[in-house]
Amino acid sequence: MKILTIVGARPQFIKAFAVSRELRTDHEEVLVHTGQHYDEELSDVFFDELGIPEPDYNLGVGSDTHGRQTATMLEGIEELIESEAPDVVLLYGDTNSTLAGAIAGAKIDPLVAHVEAGLRSYNREMPEEINRVLTDHASDLLFAPSESAAETLAEEGITEGVHVVGDVMYDSILWAREVAAERSTILDELGLADGEYILSTVHRASNTDDPDRLEAILDGLSAVPLPVVFPVHPRTEERLKYYGFWERATDELEVVDPVGYLDFVRLLDGAERVATDSGGVQKEAFYLDTPCVTMRDETEWVETVESGWNVLVGANQRKIENQLTRDQNVDDKPSPYGNGTAAEAIVSILTESL
Ligand code: UD1
Ligand code: UDP
Repeated sequence: MKILTIVGARPQFIKAFAVSRELRTDHEEVLVHTGQHYDEELSDVFFDELGIPEPDYNLGVGSDTHGRQTATMLEGIEELIESEAPDVVLLYGDTNSTLAGAIAGAKIDPLVAHVEAGLRSYNREMPEEINRVLTDHASDLLFAPSESAAETLAEEGITEGVHVVGDVMYDSILWAREVAAERSTILDELGLADGEYILSTVHRASNTDDPDRLEAILDGLSAVPLPVVFPVHPRTEERLKYYGFWERATDELEVVDPVGYLDFVRLLDGAERVATDSGGVQKEAFYLDTPCVTMRDETEWVETVESGWNVLVGANQRKIENQLTRDQNVDDKPSPYGNGTAAEAIVSILTESL
């Protein structure tokens, strides 16, 4: 079996890592990096740390408007599907790289397989929501991380090719938690101790591109008595500077460059709480038993909220501050996203599907 895997953004390297390990034991994988993320700390660091082989192709698309970025990827991916003639085009998550792969793949021969199918925020203002819906409807094989994701697909009329396999990020973090505990020195470097700091990340367009929301988040985080470690996404750094909030952010938070996956997992594992608008970080917090405060108005990862491990606070200064300073009411933790063996299930279903 020949698989053409499309990745382009930070969380996709982490997801593809888990599946590639499994896939490459018996199958041929051609790895395509669209170049959506290109900074060393958003791209190369993950390949180095996770031992992911160098991409076979890098389309080098870089940053642009959604239309131009997706169109450039689409053109490049189509050419590669024609020249490589894979059996399967394998896609992850909900970025523009995912959508470009779905459109290119759906119009040519190979099966299109989507990992993380069936997630919905039901907020069509979110670019990722458009990417998810379109990718799911263009895919032949839909790997859902949970029963609820499969039900969502059924509600949209998609029942064929749907497989509940669990979450590949769970596979990745089981490996990373152990390795990070041995290798990461980030807590010493930052002068922090377990349980004595808050970790925070922000990069969602709805937060970074709205000065009122961004300022409210900054106000909420700054009011917390514990140090707040803030590995800043380049998009967020650019907006903080543009709106004149950068000095405040660096004065009031422990702002650091984006960190590698192992350091991030170590920070998340040791944090008293995490405040984020990331999709992946909400789940990772859940796997590592770190209560999560999500600075969004809705989430695709509904089970984390239902169990009390995740609380939605929007970009509301008071709610952010309150939630980060009070005890979080966590229930027993359910296991809605499988048991960390999603990659194995995906590879075996791919093999049977050809
Ligand atoms: C993208 C995904 C988002 C995902 C996130 C993971 C889309 C629509 N968005 O958001 O779903 O959660 O990746 O981190 O696909 N930039 C750099 N260096 C880089 C990459 C980006 O400086 O290596 C800056 C540029 O100013 C760029 C901005 O970040 O314009 C946004 O980058 P982009 O890839 O368009 O979206 P993300 O916000 O990273
Ligand atoms: N991450 C990382 N370093 C950081 C911030 C995040 O390695 O400084 C990892 C994190 O562990 C998770 C992934 O990046 O696996 C999440 O990516 P991001 O929040 O950018 O995207 P999303 O999941 O929201 O699409």
